[in-house]
Amino acid sequence: MQITLLTISSFTFYALLACATLSLVILLNELIPKALVKVKCRKSVTGKKLVRRAPGPRPLPIIGNLSVLDGYEVPYQAFSDLRDKYGPVISLQLGAIPAIVVNGVDNIKEVLITKTSHFDSRPNFQRYHQLFSGNKENSLAFCDWSEVHKQRREMLAPHTFPKNFSDRFKQFDSIITEELGLTILNKTKDLEKEIPLPKQAILKYCCNIFTRYFCSKRFENDDPAFDIFISNFDKIFYEVNQGYAADFLPFLMPLHSKNLKQLESWSHEIRSILLEKIIKNRYTENAGDDDYLECLINYVKKLESGMDWNMGLFALEDIVGGHSAVGNFLGKVFGYILQDQKVQVEIQREAASVLHTSVQSNIRLQDRKLMPYTEAVIMESIRLIASPIVPHVSNQHSTIGGFDIEPNTLIFLNNYDLSMSPVLWDDPESFKPERFIRNGQLFKPDFFLPFGGGRRSCLGYKIVQLISFSTVANILKDFNIAALPGHVSKVQPGTLVTSEDCFKVCLIPRA
Ligand code: HEM
Repeated sequence: MQITLLTISSFTFYALLACATLSLVILLNELIPKALVKVKCRKSVTGKKLVRRAPGPRPLPIIGNLSVLDGYEVPYQAFSDLRDKYGPVISLQLGAIPAIVVNGVDNIKEVLITKTSHFDSRPNFQRYHQLFSGNKENSLAFCDWSEVHKQRREMLAPHTFPKNFSDRFKQFDSIITEELGLTILNKTKDLEKEIPLPKQAILKYCCNIFTRYFCSKRFENDDPAFDIFISNFDKIFYEVNQGYAADFLPFLMPLHSKNLKQLESWSHEIRSILLEKIIKNRYTENAGDDDYLECLINYVKKLESGMDWNMGLFALEDIVGGHSAVGNFLGKVFGYILQDQKVQVEIQREAASVLHTSVQSNIRLQDRKLMPYTEAVIMESIRLIASPIVPHVSNQHSTIGGFDIEPNTLIFLNNYDLSMSPVLWDDPESFKPERFIRNGQLFKPDFFLPFGGGRRSCLGYKIVQLISFSTVANILKDFNIAALPGHVSKVQPGTLVTSEDCFKVCLIPRA
């Protein structure tokens, strides 16, 4: 699950500036943030200066500092520019919401890990409530921390982090390779023809992996409900990855009402398909614990769980919806791979060397250790995408890097910089998987945090890595990946979301 910051187009920005000016007189008293008139240092009871308020640009009335984020290709680049001007921890006033931008691996780890319990809430955007039936606590990624959320995570983790070589791990492995054959390569049994790989095919492939693994359900490729299911999830995935000025200026929310209605109707369709095609009568049957769906049903049925079936269904949708993240990510991986024939040749060399000594005809997940370059291709793709960490929110007074943080402050973590800084990486704009290999082994620097960390860390990262590895290795052992004639794939950095163009690729059988 991925959320970007706000991508405010110039048009939107000027529109909101106009609205803001008009509303200025009416709203001034209410919206001028208290933070502006606050003294710069708090004092202890003994009168000693305690902690400092982080520096930052002077906010304008109503819109605060929203304008400093405008005009960047990747919005998080604004954070690096602010860091150069004000230092690593910066105060911003984003409309009505006080925010802090955190730069630097030590400060980011302070938020995510050392003080994880101080910063484990999520933004209280109206949009998030509307997306989840009026209550963002229904969501795994946007809820605040609670006992219920802790248990939801604990229940999910054994499924999203299957232990290497366990039965679930082997089952997952087989599902991926079977689905590659069934959903992507099915029409080309003789492996002689070019196979176009549209976004829809990748999403269906990923969705069937998810629904089979988590819910023991497979959709037929030509089932019309399957098309609606993947397409609605993808549209919602796109939407939650956009930023809205209205998140910070709630009085602009009516401008989005049409859009939000659309989102609601997509979610309703998803829910109906989920109930009709996946759940059917499984809730009323005696559930075992074979898949995540059964564990969830058993959990909800325990009175003390504090989770009702409606919340359980949201948790299931969130996880099944993870296929959109993987599908979009794979599109980007293909986009990077096809730009450099040497990368494909190296993956093919690794695959051939594994298969040479194997009785299997496919690359298995257990072969990952033997294919560090292929794993590094996945890591390098994750680095270059530099997808933002979902914003956190402080739930108490605390400090970051020695600066005072008030409760309910929105915390942006500049992990874009950790992935793209020329100080941390040699030639960071280039695709160089070998940077993740040391002494022939996969190596991950400890400042590289693409999946966050601590209590709110990503629950899907192992799934992402396993599916991507197996897909790339098993496709390239038989095919080359190429752009469809006339299409150049530029992979957009700073987001996980892909345009349709990223998927204008095809598989060309190897001679
Ligand atoms: C390349 C793909 C993905 C990337 C880059 C990614 C990255 C992230 C990041 C940065 C966070 C926030 C961590 C934090 O706040 O500290 C997150 C949260 C989350 N991710 Fe992922 N993710 C990906 C795919 C997935 C998938 C496939 C799933 C589901 C199977 C998933 C499930 C979640 C959940 C449930 C959370 C919220 C956890 C919480 O707030 O307690 N993610 N992800």
